[in-house]
Amino acid sequence: MEGRLEGRRILVTGASGGIGAATARAVAAAGGQVALLARREDRIAALAEELGGAAVPADVVDVAAVGHAVARAAEALGGRLDGLVNAAGVLRPGTVAEGDPDDWALTFDVNVRGLLHATQAAIPYLTAADHADVVNVSSMSGRRLGSAPMGVYAASKAAVHMLSEGLRRELGERGVRVAVIAPGIVETDIFAASDHETAHSLAARSRQIGLSADQVADRIVEVLAAPPGVVHAEVAMLSIDQ
Ligand SMILES: NC(=O)c1ccc[n+]([C@@H]2O[C@H](COP(=O)([O-])OP(=O)(O)OC[C@H]3O[C@@H](n4cnc5c(N)ncnc54)[C@H](OP(=O)(O)O)[C@@H]3O)[C@@H](O)[C@H]2O)c1
Repeated sequence: MEGRLEGRRILVTGASGGIGAATARAVAAAGGQVALLARREDRIAALAEELGGAAVPADVVDVAAVGHAVARAAEALGGRLDGLVNAAGVLRPGTVAEGDPDDWALTFDVNVRGLLHATQAAIPYLTAADHADVVNVSSMSGRRLGSAPMGVYAASKAAVHMLSEGLRRELGERGVRVAVIAPGIVETDIFAASDHETAHSLAARSRQIGLSADQVADRIVEVLAAPPGVVHAEVAMLSIDQ
């Protein structure tokens, strides 16, 4: 991987843990410069220091805060950004009959609107670059539902697939590639935020048969490092046991 992203300046959202943090490490290991966005400032500051990157704390739901954070990220990386990895996301299982409407709002606010906020703020930088990438971390559940309580989360991820398709058409001729990474279950802390039994069983399953965050991150680096002119429109990946 070393050197494959030399000279690239990549902003990663959701970089305080899981797939986003692993992606920041993998990008840096491949020679890229990174800016890290998430709410937990202590975590992204420590990782940025380790990787020689920039930490730009923000809540992706707050459109103004994201705008400022993206501008600060570009400034810290020499006035340029040529990659955005949208990895910030939440998972709150629940059926429609028994689910909490606040969870539905959070799911769409972070997974869909947050991704749009970060992407819109990054577009002026991405289109100014010679060539650039947006990599949206979706999920296999955006294409194939696992169980009823995952319906709302899966709907948010299906939206990410379709928004990415629109963005690919919007930005392709301006030199920006748009990719979707759709992993199956990955061993991260995402399940710990919910007390729903589905979250508990997914957490247990992720420990048994999940991909690692590093495996997903390596794939994201491959997508970022693909030869110019090649677009990884959708990359679905599972562990062999899933
Ligand atoms: N784990 C899986 O099985 C799996 C499978 C397929 C797809 N995915 C997707 O992969 C992505 C990363 O998830 P993960 O598994 O790595 O989970 P994770 O370890 O919980 O990481 C989620 C990241 O999103 C950030 N985040 C959450 N809400 C945010 C907000 N309002 N503003 C800014 N950042 C926010 C968190 O940072 P802060 O809390 O510090 O803000 C954290 O850095 C998500 O989009 C998820 O849907 C996960």
